[in-house]
Amino acid sequence: MTPNDLLRQESTSPWTFFKWTWALLLLAVEVQAYDNASITDVDLRFGRRAYNPEIARRQNARNCIPKPGDASHQPQRRGLFDLFGLDGRSEAGELEVVKKRDEVDGYYDANANGTKFLWSLEDVHAGESFFDEMAFFSYRDPTEGHVNYVNESEARRKRLIYTEPDGTVIMRADQETHLPHGAYRDSVRIETKKNYTGGLFVLDMKKAPWGCAVWPAFWSTNARWPCDGEIDILEGVHDAQHNQVTWHTAPGCHLDASAEFTGDPVVSSIENHPPVNGTIDCDSDVNGNAGCGIYEWSRSSYGPFFEEQGGGIIAMKWDENGIAVWSFFRNAIPKDLANETPETDTWGPPSAVLMPSRCDLGWYFKEHVIIFDITFCGVWAGVTYTDTQCPGTCETRMMDPANFVNATWAINYLKIYRKVPVFASIISGNSGTKSSTATMAWGASLLSLALGFITIM
Ligand SMILES: *[C@@H]1O[C@H](CO)[C@@H](O)[C@H](O)[C@H]1NC(C)=O
Ligand SMILES: *[C@@H]1O[C@H](CO)[C@@H](O)[C@H](O)[C@H]1NC(C)=O
Ligand SMILES: *[C@@H]1O[C@H](CO)[C@@H](O)[C@H](O)[C@H]1NC(C)=O
Ligand SMILES: *[C@@H]1O[C@H](CO)[C@@H](O)[C@H](O)[C@H]1NC(C)=O
Ligand SMILES: *[C@@H]1O[C@H](CO)[C@@H](O)[C@H](O)[C@H]1NC(C)=O
Ligand SMILES: *[C@@H]1O[C@H](CO)[C@@H](O)[C@H](O)[C@H]1NC(C)=O
Repeated sequence: MTPNDLLRQESTSPWTFFKWTWALLLLAVEVQAYDNASITDVDLRFGRRAYNPEIARRQNARNCIPKPGDASHQPQRRGLFDLFGLDGRSEAGELEVVKKRDEVDGYYDANANGTKFLWSLEDVHAGESFFDEMAFFSYRDPTEGHVNYVNESEARRKRLIYTEPDGTVIMRADQETHLPHGAYRDSVRIETKKNYTGGLFVLDMKKAPWGCAVWPAFWSTNARWPCDGEIDILEGVHDAQHNQVTWHTAPGCHLDASAEFTGDPVVSSIENHPPVNGTIDCDSDVNGNAGCGIYEWSRSSYGPFFEEQGGGIIAMKWDENGIAVWSFFRNAIPKDLANETPETDTWGPPSAVLMPSRCDLGWYFKEHVIIFDITFCGVWAGVTYTDTQCPGTCETRMMDPANFVNATWAINYLKIYRKVPVFASIISGNSGTKSSTATMAWGASLLSLALGFITIM
């Protein structure tokens, strides 16, 4: 009997036909049950921030490509050089910038291993043009907020977005409409049209939204949530006073709670899923999608006290050394940051950081758009309402527009910097070294390209 005969015999057997039909049927039922399971309350309890409802329905960490290390998935892996823009494509072009700055002063930042680099300003969102490169999200809120996200023309018409004469950008909830019990309030959710893999993201605010029933966030993710990760940079609910920084990922990424940061790991992430060897699981499929979070230490990092200080800057640095968040009150903003020559290595320990030691950052975080939103009640602010000093219920709180006077983003700017490596000791003020500088840069670029290529292979 040849293998072909075997095949023929198998395929013509009625029993085989029955077996296959039954298996397919079971599979169909399972797929459906699985689909339904991915949108249960359990999954949504703590701030799932999926991109839109359709995607929230389909996506689940279990659908993500397994983490690197699985040999069968190696071809999907992208090289670190590629991911962090270190592939040598533009370094030669940056040399002039590097050189000019070097002539003025040494505005270098440093990697964990002491090698130097620069932050080059890539995008500025501010003033009248703030919304030019932003897309408006007007779907149903995937976090089940009692909110109507309006489109740009509606937002302008209802003055939910506008720019003040001094250039301050306002983005706010409807603060004028009385609503019947159970009705949803108009608000805004926007995201950058462009996506970023790594960078330094600097948000300067006069105010961030707060108040009972209010749940704002400044965060990043993309349409492949949770496979490409989520970074919640500024987020809170109700009368909170501590900002919460949180990461949500596919399985296999952990927060090293023993890393150096000034905040406190979020206890709710730990309750049902205690730290193993000092790490907290960031997997969006465990612990009700609590993610791995850190509360900022300062009680003025969110809400009324943040506002009273005149607001300040929150900065998120995302590179191969970690994803770190710092916040600075208005009168404590470092000069280098104000001067657009940030040197994060001089800022001291961050409020929160996700280190690469327990999470392959290049794998779990890619191509994020930057998002601002203000939602109400829903899977975080709704279920925690009764734990606060807030009056009544979240639904009754929604009715009076006066309750939303502080649900406002007042933004000076959002600046995004790109990391530019500096190739050791090739920078010098004298023109005699210029050509050798360029040659070495090209050499390094080619080497980077080759290494990137090898990694992709
Ligand atoms: C999944 O949900 C759909 C619609 O809500 C329902 O028709 C279907 O029976 C559910 N499937 C299972 C297996 O529970
Ligand atoms: C130092 O770290 C950077 C990444 O942060 C890396 O690109 C560079 O190759 C490292 N240099 C040395 C000498 O280890
Ligand atoms: C914006 O929303 C309003 C109200 O829902 C709708 O009438 C209008 O057509 C929308 N505009 C665009 C450009 O989608
Ligand atoms: C990010 O932007 C690039 C370039 O526009 C685009 O090709 C890519 O699909 C975007 N990624 C995501 C996740 O949207
Ligand atoms: C915790 O760390 C110890 C020592 O490194 C190791 O033997 C153990 O397997 C780890 N436990 C888990 C659950 O990873
Ligand atoms: C809004 O902020 C002001 C100033 O901090 C405060 O007095 C007021 O109670 C706040 N209102 C609401 C509804 O949160």
